[in-house]
Amino acid sequence: MTDSSSTSRRGFLRTALAAGGAGALAAPASAAGAGNAANQPPNVPDWSRYLGDGVAVRKYGRPSKHETQAIRRDVAWLTASPQSSVSFTPLHELDGVITPNGLCFERHHAGIAEIDPADYRLIVHGLVEKPLIFTLDDLKRMPRVSRAYFCECAANSGMEWRGAQLNGAQFTHGMVHCVMYTGVPLKVLLDEAGLRPNASWLLLEGGDAAAMSRSLPLAKALDDVLVAYRMNGEMLYPENGYPVRMVIPGWEANMWVKWLRRIEVGDAPWHHREETSKYTDLLEDGRARRFTFVMDAKSVITNPSPQAPLNHKAGFTVLSGLAWSGRGRIARVDISLDGGRNWRPARLDGPVWDKALTRFYYELDWDGRELLLQSRAMDETGYVQPSKAELRKHRGVNSIYHNNGIQTWHVHKNGEVENVEVS
Ligand code: MTE
Ligand code: CO
Repeated sequence: MTDSSSTSRRGFLRTALAAGGAGALAAPASAAGAGNAANQPPNVPDWSRYLGDGVAVRKYGRPSKHETQAIRRDVAWLTASPQSSVSFTPLHELDGVITPNGLCFERHHAGIAEIDPADYRLIVHGLVEKPLIFTLDDLKRMPRVSRAYFCECAANSGMEWRGAQLNGAQFTHGMVHCVMYTGVPLKVLLDEAGLRPNASWLLLEGGDAAAMSRSLPLAKALDDVLVAYRMNGEMLYPENGYPVRMVIPGWEANMWVKWLRRIEVGDAPWHHREETSKYTDLLEDGRARRFTFVMDAKSVITNPSPQAPLNHKAGFTVLSGLAWSGRGRIARVDISLDGGRNWRPARLDGPVWDKALTRFYYELDWDGRELLLQSRAMDETGYVQPSKAELRKHRGVNSIYHNNGIQTWHVHKNGEVENVEVS
């Protein structure tokens, strides 16, 4: 078996040309015979014979009707009702680092609040000199920034704490998305209201039927937190908090309050439901870790994975995946083909942004042997993603949250891929 380090790009191309014989662009053997031959060379395909739809027939663009698999999916047995549930990002169907708006995972505690922007108001009060109420237009007139950040639910991979369970990167790791947000730095709003001297915590509250709320330390609020109204250039989608949500870079997504209605400034945390009975990590000795805000470095191979098998059998392929860290930039990702015995560096590609998803690739000439694929992320602080065994040594298996252990995919000889664990 050869890999990135021993296979030059030129070698790859030579093989591809040789395989293609005289016609260098001939379809690989696995595609021969697939589809309708009448549409394939040397014939003129249907779509070359007629005029297509004109401009603006499609008022809002959608993916090709053939792309039916790039969809959010849920797991019916996970929750009692769809209003308090989660849908997962199809990570195995995407590339690059930005998640399209329609495919961002959703997590709601009381369904999607449908807010009329004309009625929208944001209240800032508590330990401030001047309590304020902002309209959406007020927020849009204030100084703004645009930044891409990952947003990961603390419960991402939570079903895997006790062992491999869900067969697909979408389900094991799909409670994460990465979006370019546009909004007002929270510091600008707080400066406007004027903080009293004893101000040290903020309560963020949503306008949904759950009125979901979290306490945020003031230091983070004054650092990189945004009050965002746009995602990837468009106004936020209703699922993701329209018209305004909190963006708390690198910290657990539960704090990214959607449909933001109220910010109260106080001098202590509020100890509400989401920071006591939920989003705390129960250890083996009965104590619980609390206020575990930061999402530690993590990675996953998205292709191949159980929903994206190696259909082409042996030959050249590209392993790909995502890495991220709540502590900063990703410095490096290593790949193992043998369940963590040997590691080789993957190639980081595209923008490597602070607290954002980072794409990695690893070119491989697969000889058809079984593989135990793993990826391991390291961030710029030197933190290395732990194995699941290491993680359980420190945290036990009672927790649901903050599982950033190394994922293993078992690639079978027939190209099928399965979620497994190695000891
Ligand atoms: N904000 C409100 N108001 N209500 C909610 O139910 N869910 C939280 C957070 N903010 C929630 C909320 C949780 S647990 C997560 S993981 C993220 O929103 C999910 O954000 P998304 O739906 O945009 O992916
Ligand atoms: Co969540």
